[in-house]
Amino acid sequence: MKTILYYFTGTGNSLAVAKAISTRLPDTELAPIPKLMFAGEKITVPADVNIGIVYPLYGMGLPNIVAKFFTLLDLTHAGYVFSVVTEGGKSGSPTKQISALCEKSGHKLDASWWIQMPDNYIPLSDPPTKPVEKTIRENAVRKVSVIVEEIKERRHVLSGFSFAGTLMHVIYGPFIKRIHNFDKKFIVNPSCNGCLICAQVCPVNNIRGLPHGKKEWLHKCEGCLACLQFCPVQAISCGGKTAYRPRYHHANATIADMIEQKGGPESK
Ligand SMILES: Cc1cc2nc3c(=O)[nH]c(=O)nc-3n(C[C@H](O)[C@H](O)[C@H](O)COP(=O)(O)O)c2cc1C
Repeated sequence: MKTILYYFTGTGNSLAVAKAISTRLPDTELAPIPKLMFAGEKITVPADVNIGIVYPLYGMGLPNIVAKFFTLLDLTHAGYVFSVVTEGGKSGSPTKQISALCEKSGHKLDASWWIQMPDNYIPLSDPPTKPVEKTIRENAVRKVSVIVEEIKERRHVLSGFSFAGTLMHVIYGPFIKRIHNFDKKFIVNPSCNGCLICAQVCPVNNIRGLPHGKKEWLHKCEGCLACLQFCPVQAISCGGKTAYRPRYHHANATIADMIEQKGGPESK
């Protein structure tokens, strides 16, 4: 039976997980959420098609773009609906939130899983060292195999609820409300060479090139940090100690992947 995996990624972790699921689960198609959001067309899932949503945890909840995506999605006729959240190792409880969004779109959430991936939120802390990153990724691969078997059996497992996570979820509201202005924190240092890779990788085309290699952010930021993490000369920082921290993106994530996720460099 066909499965469509809708995904959003800022630094490639969720894409890596989506790809790992798709290679193990027969007849699975990857569908990038930013590209579909640019298209803005309603999506009626055909009868009995299975749906998976793969996304990173933001402020203990869903990225704004993923939550908004549900307004396009009609899941009424879907077969089995599941979600996989990648997170950086802090507690959180997005299951309740995504469960409510699925119900509103016409189908209950049948299963949800979380997978720890390297933490990309460098405004708060350093990314993991290379050996730790390797261990996290190996564990993630093992967990994907287990998840895929459970998907094949159409298991009903809603993991991700925890008391601590539910309490911490109170930070989500204020955090996500201000997310579009997250870009006001970005500082560009003189090492910027004007390559505009930052604009290319931005999933929502929030960066506009200006004359003389300059650029501006348009305040429709998703906070994904792709601009900062993919910059080849570490010219972008976002306050505090960020300037001095190592950068992180998944080793297999390319600029081409990031462009593909939004449907090409020319998306509006
Ligand atoms: C804006 C933002 C908020 C985040 N909030 C959390 C969080 O609340 N808990 C957590 O464990 N990780 C958090 N992270 C880390 C990411 O969820 C994690 O590294 C994820 O795997 C990144 O996936 P991606 O590479 O597909 O974007 C956050 C990252 C960002 C950019």
